[in-house]
Amino acid sequence: METIDAIIGRRSVRKYTTQPILDSDVQDIITAGLYAPSAIDLQPWYFVVIKSPEKLEEFREFMSEVYDKFEPVLLERFANHPATIAETKVFLKSLGGTQCCILAFMYQPDYPDKKGVIEGVSAAIQNMLLAAYDKGIGSCWMTAPTRAGMEEDIRLRYAPDHGDFIAAVTLGYPALTPKAPKRKMGRYQII
Ligand SMILES: Cc1cc2nc3c(=O)[nH]c(=O)nc-3n(C[C@H](O)[C@H](O)[C@H](O)COP(=O)(O)O)c2cc1C
Repeated sequence: METIDAIIGRRSVRKYTTQPILDSDVQDIITAGLYAPSAIDLQPWYFVVIKSPEKLEEFREFMSEVYDKFEPVLLERFANHPATIAETKVFLKSLGGTQCCILAFMYQPDYPDKKGVIEGVSAAIQNMLLAAYDKGIGSCWMTAPTRAGMEEDIRLRYAPDHGDFIAAVTLGYPALTPKAPKRKMGRYQII
């Protein structure tokens, strides 16, 4: 696959089939994350890969609680978009039947330049989404736990010796692939 086709074709997939993901594919996806660029080559990421059915179910239950905390925020923010709320509820409560979930954290608890670190971890996440897409595996980048104020709970539970939770990524073979949202105007200039 051409890189540009992966960049343009990748979508946030929120419903997966039950087809398991091979360990070797998970390893390749993680490797893609590890090869992202980072400020002063800090490689400031730490990933926790949740793959066993028991651990996935535990995480799904945890995310279901996240949704319950997040619902009032959603109801206020998307008062005129009930379909968005309904979709978010189904996804957070089920995780779309994900077959593997990657939690991304900062490697260290403290960095002098946290903004740069977030950029590095984000680059690693995007690399993983693209590597997954290249293998026909769908993904969804999720920061809902942070917006629900649950990031410290996730860190303490999954990576107590590391830094801030950045995002969760669900992975699985797509059962449903949404259309690409229309690109917004005025997002760049060439000078
Ligand atoms: C930083 C970030 C946070 C996101 N958080 C969520 C989330 O919590 N839940 C969700 O369903 N999608 C989440 N998404 C996915 C976006 O909603 C999605 O990228 C956007 O709707 C555009 O769709 P596309 O990825 O198919 O192009 C997130 C994406 C990014 C980059």
